[in-house]
Amino acid sequence: MSEKPLAGIKVIDFTGVQAGPACTQLLAWFGADVIKVERTNGGDVTRRQLRDIPDVDALYFTMLNSNKRSLAINTKAPEGKEVMEKLIRGADILVENFAPGAMDRMGLGWDHIHELNPRLILGSVKGFNEDSPWSDLKVYENVAQAAGGAASTTGFWDGPPTISGAALGDSNSGMHLMIGLLTAIIQRNATGVGQKVSVSMQDAVLNLSRVKLRDQQRLERLGYLEEYPQYPNGEFGDAVPRGGNAGGGGQPGWVLKCKGWETDPNAYIYFTIQEQNWARTCEAIGKPEWIDDPEYATARARQPHIFDIFADIEKWLADKTKYEAVDILRTYEVPCAPVLSMKEIAADPALRKSGSVVEVEQKDRGTYLTVGSPIKFSGFTPDITGSPLLGEHTDEVLADLGYDADAIAKLHAGQVVV
Ligand code: COA
Repeated sequence: MSEKPLAGIKVIDFTGVQAGPACTQLLAWFGADVIKVERTNGGDVTRRQLRDIPDVDALYFTMLNSNKRSLAINTKAPEGKEVMEKLIRGADILVENFAPGAMDRMGLGWDHIHELNPRLILGSVKGFNEDSPWSDLKVYENVAQAAGGAASTTGFWDGPPTISGAALGDSNSGMHLMIGLLTAIIQRNATGVGQKVSVSMQDAVLNLSRVKLRDQQRLERLGYLEEYPQYPNGEFGDAVPRGGNAGGGGQPGWVLKCKGWETDPNAYIYFTIQEQNWARTCEAIGKPEWIDDPEYATARARQPHIFDIFADIEKWLADKTKYEAVDILRTYEVPCAPVLSMKEIAADPALRKSGSVVEVEQKDRGTYLTVGSPIKFSGFTPDITGSPLLGEHTDEVLADLGYDADAIAKLHAGQVVV
């Protein structure tokens, strides 16, 4: 197989910040022709946010917009809107994640887009879905984590709701949208008709927080959640509590200190007590006497003193680095992993080899690291390239649409494009 899976699919990327760009970047990696349509005055805001080099596109932008072309155009000017409508007539997908109502205000509501090109699929990310009382809100990552049930269930019981470091609201919504778009393409190829695919960030977070909705129902029926640290010695209220680093499934686990934790904030492993692997787990940590001891032999017997058990395992870990510990525990099939810092991830040779972390080149910046495709194919390997400069492909895209040199010059002179 030599052709990329999405070769020939034309995507208008009318997105900004992270949720929309993460989706369209994946489409671009898989071979779609993605044209990023940006404002003429600075483009996507992330080009300027959190810059580490003066006047150079920020990593925030470059890591979400690789493999795309950039068209900088004022779509609110009549000539700019005309360009946009031409693009729409020839595209398969348009993705947008503007504030609620912005597309309608630009005269590019779904009805109009569908009329211009009935085959086109519109992908749309908003903070909340249309039925929500908060559907008019502007939303960023942490707002979605708060509203989607992640924040209230993350952190420690004696601390406030906590935001995850992973972009559950932003990139995750983009991934959900990608699934919807590909589904709609399959149907469009059969019916010839496109549709609007909407993802709300609240819903995308909730979809990943589904085990907590499970726990809410168990809590209401039973009054307790046996796998949470609050059981059996603590108190439960009427809503799912924050469980710290508890396993959350049927397998208790915790973050445990390893050699060097006093000075290294990441000298920890995540240790899981797998019920069916209890005997080997005891052997691994030098506690064979626990195997048949009734105080230890079952999950139910262990739970009341689970933190004493973890403390004993930490004693075994005290003279082992996190890597040494995992190397021993893996031979006993204990589900575990070192807690990796971003520094370690950036340098990890295995992640480089698999293409999950890649070094790419960008014109002004030089080389930088970015994530590669987390999805691996047997028939093709995504080739990750740098992100485009603002308007780098404006003239090229206009020429593709049939504008001649004079017409393009006129658009530049009128500052409709840059
Ligand atoms: N030419 C002319 N105008 C353009 C343009 C272009 N190429 N591209 C965008 N604009 C306009 C929009 O039409 C809008 O105008 P309006 O306010 O007059 O309707 C304006 O630029 C700003 O749009 P937007 O980026 O949506 O507003 P914002 O910067 O105030 O809000 C968000 C940013 C992210 C909060 C908001 O877009 C949002 O809530 N999006 C939905 C959820 C989401 O995706 N959140 C981000 C997750 S990473």
